[in-house]
Amino acid sequence: MDKNDLIHDISKDGVDRRGFLKCMAWTGTGLVWSINGGILSSAVFGANSAAAATAELNFVQISDTHVGFNKPANQNVLGTFQETVKRINTLPKTPDFILHTGDLTHLAADEQFDTVDQVLKGAKASQVFYVPGEHDILNDKGAQYLQRFGKGTQGNGWYSFDQKGVHFIGLVNVFNDTEGGMGILGADQLDWLKKDLAGLATSTPIVVFAHIPLWEVYAQWGWGTTDGAQALALLKRFGSVTVLNGHIHQAMQKIEGNMTFHTARSTAFPQPAPGSAPKPGPMVVPAEQLRGMLGLTRVSYVETDSHLAIVDSTLA
Ligand SMILES: [Fe+2]
Ligand SMILES: [Fe+2]
Repeated sequence: MDKNDLIHDISKDGVDRRGFLKCMAWTGTGLVWSINGGILSSAVFGANSAAAATAELNFVQISDTHVGFNKPANQNVLGTFQETVKRINTLPKTPDFILHTGDLTHLAADEQFDTVDQVLKGAKASQVFYVPGEHDILNDKGAQYLQRFGKGTQGNGWYSFDQKGVHFIGLVNVFNDTEGGMGILGADQLDWLKKDLAGLATSTPIVVFAHIPLWEVYAQWGWGTTDGAQALALLKRFGSVTVLNGHIHQAMQKIEGNMTFHTARSTAFPQPAPGSAPKPGPMVVPAEQLRGMLGLTRVSYVETDSHLAIVDSTLA
């Protein structure tokens, strides 16, 4: 499926129905995504789990833990966060690290950041990498987030690192003063990104992670990044680019050329599918359905195949 399937269907009838039905079918729980030389293949989760056991690099993405949230959509976000960590700790292979793609907390309060830190200390992974969500920079323009989770980063918290031949780039796109507005990277960060990529061979696999989707999921709800296309243009020359986001509290995937875009579920509460409600926000679902809408994402990379597999699983 390409960008046009999604966007075209939204604009044609004003409702996203058809485009998103297609997307939902693609991102249902238990699919393994593999990219191999730009050719997409998928397998039912389980049939391909041996891949993860031998992968050279395994990591887990979690997102939108919203510690401190306490509304009907989930009155025990701490409990579902802890359940997620338990899932991570029982994976067949301990992940090399965890990526948290933002909205660590609900209100950027001191004790909420403390709790996030405490809970993730219980995860069997040697390191956690973060980017902030818009909820983490409330009140103080991200000062506390940066002090606690952004040590050694540039600007508002962006940075890059390398792991087993894969280049990881954490971008910050939540500094937009308009509430519910689109993400924005800004000229400074784009300049930095250009320099960061300059020395890399096109064969280097790239993983970009940021809170708000870098691709336009649904502009009416601010689910996209105004200058995201500029970042993607800089990444175009690379043979394998994986873009991981959160913020929309649902799993969604799009493939475009050598780029795979993927959003992770929240561990806290679901949000409606784009356009299916008057506005975005915490969605109340029957209690027995909640865990099926929360979860984590596993990503594996096998160097010899230049192969990245993305697996979503829920808490259900
Ligand atoms: Fe969120
Ligand atoms: Fe968010």
